[in-house]
Amino acid sequence: MRCGLALTAIAALAGSAFGRVYFEETFSDPDSINSFVASGAREDIGAIKLSPGKWYSDEKNSVGLQISEDARFYAYTSKLKRPFNTKGKDFVVQFTVKYEQDIDCGGAYLKLLPPTLDPVKFDGDSEYEVMFGPDICGSTNRRVHAIINYNNTNNQIDKVIQPRGDQLTHQYTFWVKSDKTFEIRIDNKVQEEGKIEDMWKVLPDKQIPDPNATKPDDWVDGPAMIDDPEDEKPEDWVDGPATIPDPDAQKPEDWDDDMDGDWEAPFIANPEFKGEWKPRQIPNPEYKGEWSAPLIDNPEYDEDEDLAVFNIGYVGIDIWTVKSGTIFDNILITDDIDYASEFGNKTWADYMEAEISAKKEVDNAEAKRIEEERQAKDAEKRAAKKDAEVEVEADADADADTDVDVDADTEDDAETKAEAEVEKEEEEEEEAAAAAAAEAEAEAEKKAAEKKAAEKKAAKKAAAKEAAKKAKEAAKAAAEAAKKAAEAEKAAAEDDEEEEDDEERGHDEL
Ligand SMILES: *[C@@H]1O[C@H](CO)[C@@H](O)[C@H](O)[C@H]1NC(C)=O
Ligand SMILES: *[C@@H]1O[C@H](CO)[C@@H](O)[C@H](O)[C@H]1NC(C)=O
Ligand SMILES: *[C@@H]1O[C@H](CO)[C@@H](O)[C@H](O)[C@H]1NC(C)=O
Repeated sequence: MRCGLALTAIAALAGSAFGRVYFEETFSDPDSINSFVASGAREDIGAIKLSPGKWYSDEKNSVGLQISEDARFYAYTSKLKRPFNTKGKDFVVQFTVKYEQDIDCGGAYLKLLPPTLDPVKFDGDSEYEVMFGPDICGSTNRRVHAIINYNNTNNQIDKVIQPRGDQLTHQYTFWVKSDKTFEIRIDNKVQEEGKIEDMWKVLPDKQIPDPNATKPDDWVDGPAMIDDPEDEKPEDWVDGPATIPDPDAQKPEDWDDDMDGDWEAPFIANPEFKGEWKPRQIPNPEYKGEWSAPLIDNPEYDEDEDLAVFNIGYVGIDIWTVKSGTIFDNILITDDIDYASEFGNKTWADYMEAEISAKKEVDNAEAKRIEEERQAKDAEKRAAKKDAEVEVEADADADADTDVDVDADTEDDAETKAEAEVEKEEEEEEEAAAAAAAEAEAEAEKKAAEKKAAEKKAAKKAAAKEAAKKAKEAAKAAAEAAKKAAEAEKAAAEDDEEEEDDEERGHDEL
């Protein structure tokens, strides 16, 4: 399937005679991700997935390999269709990177690895042939790596090329030509070019200053300019004095020589004065400049046919990233820069306008969301503030009809409306409070009256009870009295009878 797509792409580009394609991956095929094999060298390798990202120009074309877990190492390799030994050929590696996550720290470079690689053991120490692509960490630690292996050592390009740190897809191209010159392009624009041996200091310098040379005795290394011996001071050159007594000054009339001393005119600048005369300067005809030893061929230099010759069997992703989201896409390895250019146009350049629009839409939507959130928060804050003010005022002055203090320096409609609503609410609240107070008062009065009545009734009842009690007591007392009276009467009657008896008896006793 992947092969089929690659062939289709090549067929679509037919017309010109292209060289060979050793690796080509646009990730449009859902199975394509399976060609990237995770290393078994460590257990915490982050997961990769296929995704077009949060914004894209084309749902299918924009799909790429996305690293999907934060703060992880990634170690994946994919095998070339056929191994590529670049001897005598041009070598081009090209791919696109989208730092969708607004990268703060993370690499997005590829490693091109020898056919002898064991993919299961692939890690940061694995020997590689080329490492190329952007790497960003913070605002200062940024560069496009272009590291080539030579004689088993990795050599970085002797120039810092700035990567693109924005959130759009950018295309990186490294072209090493068979004549040992190179070009590095970003988005089809050449960033750096020249001779490999000038930009990667792997070989001794071709020429060196002759260590046996010495500065000749008659070498004039200064001065560079001298006085012109032909130049003569003009006859009328006035080189002094700089000041003269003012010829127009007059002795004041009231000047008293005895008192004031001898009068002298004040000094003014001499109008004829031209300053010190100096001869014209001309270049020193003897001057030879600073001496340096002449360059000779370096006996140590040995041109190496194998400089920048690579033997590649795998493409590898070996990176660390803080924030996930980076999307690799449109990976191409070929020996044909024209094919790479056309491939880049068809997979990247043709889509960029649409991607920029899509990104703008996402940015606008996000800006809108943030603005709406801010407004909602402000409204909430204002409402809370008003509530607090209303409470304070209600506490301070229950029947206050006075204006509510509102912020005068806010002018937009929404706020005015909100203020009006707050005022209305306050009025309603005040009215309700007054009504409630009146009702409560009436209720209290009613209650008081009821209480009074109840008290009266209770008092009456108590009085009646007391009276009844008293009456009862009185009745009891009366009954007692009556009883006593009756007893007394009875006793009296008995006494009388006894007296009569006694009289009878006494009479007897007597
Ligand atoms: C290659 O590396 C070896 C070991 O470091 C060194 O002795 C030799 O000079 C190097 N050759 C070149 C051509 O740089
Ligand atoms: C410098 O001179 C010495 C002695 O004559 C000679 O052996 C050496 O090769 C010379 N060096 C160079 C670089 O010509
Ligand atoms: C790719 O597009 C650029 C810019 O339009 C153009 O200069 C270049 O020739 C194109 N490449 C190919 C191979 O058509």
